[in-house]
Amino acid sequence: MSGMLQAGVIGWPIGHSRSPKLHGHWLKTYGIAGRYDAVAVEPEALSGFIRRLADSGWRGCNVTIPHKEAVFGLVDRVSDTARRIGAINTVIVEDDGRLHGHNTDAYGFIENLRQSLPGFDFAAGPALVLGAGGAGRAVVAALQDAGVPEIRLANRNRGRAEALAAALPDRVTVVDWAGGDLGGINLLVNATSLGMAGQPPLDIALDRLPVTALVTDLVYVPLETPLLAAARRRGNPAVDGLGMLLHQARPGFAAWFGREPEVTDALRAAVLA
Ligand SMILES: NC(=O)c1ccc[n+]([C@@H]2O[C@H](COP(=O)([O-])OP(=O)(O)OC[C@H]3O[C@@H](n4cnc5c(N)ncnc54)[C@H](OP(=O)(O)O)[C@@H]3O)[C@@H](O)[C@H]2O)c1
Repeated sequence: MSGMLQAGVIGWPIGHSRSPKLHGHWLKTYGIAGRYDAVAVEPEALSGFIRRLADSGWRGCNVTIPHKEAVFGLVDRVSDTARRIGAINTVIVEDDGRLHGHNTDAYGFIENLRQSLPGFDFAAGPALVLGAGGAGRAVVAALQDAGVPEIRLANRNRGRAEALAAALPDRVTVVDWAGGDLGGINLLVNATSLGMAGQPPLDIALDRLPVTALVTDLVYVPLETPLLAAARRRGNPAVDGLGMLLHQARPGFAAWFGREPEVTDALRAAVLA
């Protein structure tokens, strides 16, 4: 392989993406001659961009809003996980030039919990997932793969939770937005945008939640959401959402740049800067 290895992230608009900082930190840390750029690709230009990806010398790309569904029709192969999640966030150019679409959000979600709380037993009890948007769907797929025995799914708009449960029915039951009784819950996940800066906090009473239950939030601005702060105050293990963003980037980086990258405190600091 000669020259610069090139990858990037495409979206419309793209200005807010933290991915260039993330991959840039890894490229520098590992001394790899590579580039990772953010490229604004408008919807009309998407198919041309993806079709020319290999010829442009790109090794692949991350895909963000609004292209995560449209890319299905533009790649040669789609992973089972991407199909289950209904979105592609990572495209890899294979050695033969064919394009492979993946979704690494479920992987990132689980790897973040595994690195933050080694030894946590996903099979020990039910999970309650709040939120049935795109993030909620990735979380449900991840929990199914991790062997969670029962996945309770709550969403303000209940019909959206029912649609998600119909798409990924294995071990999933829809519960009221109030979440029901938290007694016996092993894992509580906020996959809504509540608690994000500028949004109301997630209003949920943790009184009945076992203190051994792991509480995690996908929101990472702020890092310490009101939910995580309340969980920590009563002694629950709590894991923030930044790690999911960092871990979901690992498979793409490894495929494009040929090195398995690590999620470290230095990476967290670089992405937050
Ligand atoms: N850490 C990471 O790597 C990562 C990855 C993906 C997403 N996220 C975060 O996860 C969150 C959800 O993302 P998404 O892509 O799933 O968004 P989305 O598809 O727009 O879904 C938004 C979710 O939030 C709920 N919601 C919004 N406002 C609400 C309110 N006032 N009361 C109750 N529920 C409310 C929605 O419920 P309704 O259906 O009832 O509207 C829905 O469940 C965002 O904060 C996003 O930044 C983080």
